[in-house]
Amino acid sequence: MSKAAVISTGKYVPEKILTNEDLEKMVDTSDEWITTRTGIKERRIVSDGETNSTLACNAARDALSEAGMDPRDIDMIIVATFTPDRYLAATACKVQDMLGAVNSGAVDLAAACTGYVYGLSMAAGYVATGIAENILVIGSEVLSRFTNWKDRNTCVLFGDGAGAMLIGPSQGKHELEDFVLKSDGSGWELLSIPGGGSENPPSLESVSTDLHAIHMNGREIFKFAVSKLEWLIREAARLQGVEPTEIDKVVPHQVNYRIVKSACARLGMEPERFFLNLEKYGNTSGASIPLAFDEALDAGFIEDGDIVVLPGFGGGLTYGMASVRW
Ligand code: UT7
Repeated sequence: MSKAAVISTGKYVPEKILTNEDLEKMVDTSDEWITTRTGIKERRIVSDGETNSTLACNAARDALSEAGMDPRDIDMIIVATFTPDRYLAATACKVQDMLGAVNSGAVDLAAACTGYVYGLSMAAGYVATGIAENILVIGSEVLSRFTNWKDRNTCVLFGDGAGAMLIGPSQGKHELEDFVLKSDGSGWELLSIPGGGSENPPSLESVSTDLHAIHMNGREIFKFAVSKLEWLIREAARLQGVEPTEIDKVVPHQVNYRIVKSACARLGMEPERFFLNLEKYGNTSGASIPLAFDEALDAGFIEDGDIVVLPGFGGGLTYGMASVRW
């Protein structure tokens, strides 16, 4: 069985920036509230003509160019997202077409904010079993098109963007080590888009009552996130045979700096071991881990030999982690 490794990484964010000051003009909020309650200062928003697939494609091209890989050598494209271009066909198929990855399979994966971790685990499984060798795992979201811009409880939190990793057989470094994949389905209604699926198909009423936007119980999700982030890091440490305080770096799903602060206090870990870029992008759900991982590498935050934990948590309620030995 071949071990899977991260061959290269990439990212793409739209150019348009929406600041907290811009939001002050749209809803009853303030830069002070958003900054102190979340840590977010601004987020990226797609412009006309940009879609989930264009973001995903740009992030994939970035990863392919770093690896010097021809798109025709890609065997599989996985797009983790809950904001696809369309429910049919899969965004991954559009990305395949745009890239010219003519020899690849293509599939979308719906596990909300934990989608990227699930995607990495699928890629590691494909490599281990020989089902596929060169796999693009992309996290891409256009949350701005599923946001109720009149709801201050949610609209200040989300942003658009994409991140990607090329996963392939290990050449001895940057190996994917352990995975934990979980879900607590009893909380499925705490974070959902009620309209647009087969339960509540689109109708004049569903549009007028904002059923097509993200609905969230922020307080409950906050509690869930803190407890699962702590638990996932304890699990990552247990699987590595070390104490949580010996985990070198964490690149978590980017939601709220207070979630990280609370989990750190419970674990006795320094917050400095956690890479955060949420002040620039907000919560980009399935895109947040690869977007942060790419920037953590560029910033020199991740060093050779580090054990790096990638924990995700969100809608479902799903949670999980992947660890990488850099
Ligand atoms: O990717 C996973 C999905 N999402 C998450 O993980 C989000 C997790 N949750 C959170 O990050 C936090 O719960 C929030 C940032 C969403 C909210 O922070 P909070 O400290 O839990 O605030 P709260 O919901 O308890 O609300 C406190 C007050 C309320 O006013 P009252 O009832 O105390 O008068 C809200 O109406 O803050 C009010 N509020 C706002 N005020 C100004 C809520 N949103 C805003 C806002 N601006 N944008």
